Amino acid sequence: MKALQLTSIGTVTLRDIPVPTLAPGKVLVKMKAAALNRRDEWIREGKYPNIRLGVTLGSDGAGVVEAVHDESDKHWIGKEVIINPNINWGPDPEVQSRFYTILGMPVDGTFAEYILVQTDRIQSKPAHLDALQAATLPLGGLTAFRALFKRGHLQPGQNVLISGFGGGVAQFAFSFAQAAGANVYVSSGNDTKIEKALKMGARGAYNYRRDALYPDLWKTKGGFDIVIDSAGGDAINNFIKMLRPHGKIVFYGATNGLPGKLDLYRMFWNHLTLKGTTMGNDEEFGDMLQFVEKHKLKPVIDSIRPFSRIAESFNDITLPNKAGKIVFQF
Ligand SMILES: NC(=O)c1ccc[n+]([C@@H]2O[C@H](COP(=O)([O-])OP(=O)(O)OC[C@H]3O[C@@H](n4cnc5c(N)ncnc54)[C@H](OP(=O)(O)O)[C@@H]3O)[C@@H](O)[C@H]2O)c1
Repeated sequence: MKALQLTSIGTVTLRDIPVPTLAPGKVLVKMKAAALNRRDEWIREGKYPNIRLGVTLGSDGAGVVEAVHDESDKHWIGKEVIINPNINWGPDPEVQSRFYTILGMPVDGTFAEYILVQTDRIQSKPAHLDALQAATLPLGGLTAFRALFKRGHLQPGQNVLISGFGGGVAQFAFSFAQAAGANVYVSSGNDTKIEKALKMGARGAYNYRRDALYPDLWKTKGGFDIVIDSAGGDAINNFIKMLRPHGKIVFYGATNGLPGKLDLYRMFWNHLTLKGTTMGNDEEFGDMLQFVEKHKLKPVIDSIRPFSRIAESFNDITLPNKAGKIVFQF
């Protein structure tokens, strides 16, 4: 079978490798679709902990169960499934264990024609989505869900700012927050994406390349209750200025690195919180799928490409005009 592996730092290669052999407690999934995450590119660049060469990359995917090892799993055969990329979250729902990893490094991931996973890592594909749409959900959907609801405690009617609307995770955060009845605002570095967000029902938007702060902040009647961010860097201080008293910033990445300073004065005076979050536990993964099914949400797909073009597509994850997920069809 074909699988996309990290062959050296900076290089990913489609290789012919054997189909994995069934083992107790495991199921073999024939992949129908997989999706790219910023994480895959961080790994290619060598900017991720515990990198091992020769690993099949990919955290997101959907497919059909082709074979199972255990008699008790026979009912899964032929079922369309998506794969939970969490491995060893552990017993504490609040925080992952020290044995936690994510599918696709150091464990072989979804960028292969077949994947062997523990039976408890598969879940039925949401019925209203096709495999290409469902493949986009796991990593980004889970991260956005926990950030908004478990870490942000988002309530209907609150003002939430989704920073970097064009990002894969941000797109999920946007649609989840809307479905939850929040007043959703966005920032983006690209005016076309801003127009798109407004058409999709964003209450307001600004281009972070032009404006440090949302220029119509007065319309929010006191600022944002929650900011969801993954860019980090000095812009954190702008969010601190735009939060309502008792507001919070929930961040799941730091693409632009660390802030040079942090406005602690305003933070303590306004009772603000800065909260980190990563992925989500297995229960949250199930809750996220239920939420997507209940609201019949459909992910935003930037482009669908044949799996044979996956290696060259890594360059496109950082393109400024990308909006939503890059998906591969097997
Ligand atoms: N902790 C976790 O569990 C977890 C999970 C997923 C991702 N992450 C991390 O989160 C980050 C985003 O991941 P992703 O998969 O969504 O990546 P992505 O699809 O590549 O999206 C990146 C987006 O970041 C936005 N951005 C860039 N510079 C910005 C700035 N100065 N201010 C605001 N937004 C800015 C851009 O939005 P516009 O195009 O709209 O300008 C861009 O589209 C990455 O660092 C990733 O490693 C962490």
